[in-house]
Amino acid sequence: MAHSFISIKKFVDEPYSQILGYPKATSRQIKSRINELEKLKIKSISLTGTTKLGKLEILGKGYVGVVVLAKKGSKEVAVKIRRTDSQRSEMKSEAKLLKLVNSCNVGPKMLDVSKNFLIMEYIDGIKIIDWVNELNGIGSVKKLKSTIKNILVDCYNLDQIGFDHGELSNISKHVIVGKTKSTLIDFESSSVKRRPSNVTSVTQAIFIGSGMAKKIQKIYKNPSKEKIISGLKQYKQEKSLENFENLLKILKL
Ligand SMILES: Nc1ncnc2c1ncn2[C@@H]1O[C@H](COP(=O)(O)OP(=O)(O)OP(=O)(O)O)[C@@H](O)[C@H]1O
Ligand SMILES: [Mg+2]
Repeated sequence: MAHSFISIKKFVDEPYSQILGYPKATSRQIKSRINELEKLKIKSISLTGTTKLGKLEILGKGYVGVVVLAKKGSKEVAVKIRRTDSQRSEMKSEAKLLKLVNSCNVGPKMLDVSKNFLIMEYIDGIKIIDWVNELNGIGSVKKLKSTIKNILVDCYNLDQIGFDHGELSNISKHVIVGKTKSTLIDFESSSVKRRPSNVTSVTQAIFIGSGMAKKIQKIYKNPSKEKIISGLKQYKQEKSLENFENLLKILKL
């Protein structure tokens, strides 16, 4: 679907200004943010997505940022706009973490950053929980298995570089399933200091946690909890490829 884009010059005024300075900003702050966007070569924003900010449609919203679709040159990108009430004082640390996960091909590609904006690859997709809910018909089992496997491989790659996402137990918010790519998102709570538990957290969230496990059970019969837990235990002891592949086998992936 073609998106319609609005010049960022229009974002000085209501209602658009609330996107750049959510939840509250002075007109000076807004103007300075528009300047910042111009420096990043962001020319226009498209008000599209499944989340609403007042009456405006956006890609998403969390406690740190408001995420919108935008154009950098002729390319569609996602822009994470720092909320004025965010606990974080800048976006650069998150950009650094994103760059690091990109080094093993995980996450939306980090494209540019400034104090208040993180520019990244736009993932055209939906939250995993909504995606699972919408799955039905022929090919569901195959699609579901390959998507889960892709996500677990991302997690394995992160485990290998000693990188812990930190919020994967809440998987519904942190995985986007796209048409061409499914990926983890939102690495601002990540750490290279904690022991990584990406594979374990995601496996538990998908197969053992209540919500999604039940849905998935309807599409293909999950292995028993005991089997999954023993596979995880073995993997936790030694995060080797062999143990990871054994876990995939237990999960019938
Ligand atoms: N690259 C992207 N492409 C498309 N949509 C995205 C992208 N990044 C984020 N989103 C959407 O925006 C939402 C909010 O993003 P994100 O989780 O990074 O914000 P946050 O403020 O850090 O959230 P939280 O408070 O949960 O930590 C996501 O749930 C997702 O729907
Ligand atoms: Mg976050």
